[in-house]
Amino acid sequence: MVKITQEEHDLFCQYIQALSGIHLDGSKAYLLETRLASLLEQERCTCFAELYHKAKHLGGETLRQKIIDRISTNETLFFRDKRPFELLQHKIIPDLIDARKAASSGFFPTPIRIWSAACSTGQEIYSVAIVLRELLQDLNGYRIQLLGTDLSNTAIARASRGEYNQFEIKRGLSEDTLKKHFTFNGNAWKINDDIRAMVSFKKTNLMLPFDGLGKFDIVFCRNVGVYFNMTDRKKLFSNISRAMEKDGYLIIGATESLINVDPQYEPRRYLRSVFYQLK
Ligand SMILES: C[S@@+](CC[C@H](N)C(=O)[O-])C[C@H]1O[C@@H](n2cnc3c(N)ncnc32)[C@H](O)[C@@H]1O
Repeated sequence: MVKITQEEHDLFCQYIQALSGIHLDGSKAYLLETRLASLLEQERCTCFAELYHKAKHLGGETLRQKIIDRISTNETLFFRDKRPFELLQHKIIPDLIDARKAASSGFFPTPIRIWSAACSTGQEIYSVAIVLRELLQDLNGYRIQLLGTDLSNTAIARASRGEYNQFEIKRGLSEDTLKKHFTFNGNAWKINDDIRAMVSFKKTNLMLPFDGLGKFDIVFCRNVGVYFNMTDRKKLFSNISRAMEKDGYLIIGATESLINVDPQYEPRRYLRSVFYQLK
């Protein structure tokens, strides 16, 4: 296998951080080497410096995407960490509906906009859709918009297909939920059309301005900020604050915290769950 030099490693780290915010430290040389090895071969490059040059100056968006796809971690599962979805069901959605109904005097469908800000292959936002579908039963009284975004084209394409293999299905879905909301097509389990129709997907880089997405009542931004350095993490959550309604809700990963990241957010607790709101 072609070895990466320290200089090449540093060049790639800076490049990947500029493209995606993903921060790779000096101890991860093996990661770059192993994850980019097959791409090096595909692109017929003899060393990492050549691949870097090709990506930066010649390769265009396709090669850059391939690098990001190999470096980013797309690990996800249905109903990951469970509690955020219980929180959604028992606290956030009921409170939100009360607040929106009070504000609109009940004449119009209640708007609910939810964003999964690094949705990977879609399990997070489909889990949200399943909670809403089961909780609200008749969706006619609501104008629901669920959006999943990710930097990876491959992840977005998979999320959009809504098809999952046996291994992915086994992670987080009960038998009952599987039977109710998925259909086996002989090859994979496909999310049913009523759930699929509630969600749209869009490629979005969280390191670039995303004002065009509008404002959301609830934002899930889980397990992505952990890959950024503190400067980029601060930028991310500051940008997210502008994409939230004033009384909106932010849910971050189980191992993450906004303490020392962004003072605009107030942590709130419900049973054993934490969510954030703007002060
Ligand atoms: C570990 S997954 C988290 C998926 C899901 N939120 C969860 O918690 O299960 C991290 C995702 O962040 C995406 N990502 C990394 N950098 C990004 C960026 N700058 N903009 C948008 N998405 C990014 C990756 O492509 C990957 O799909």
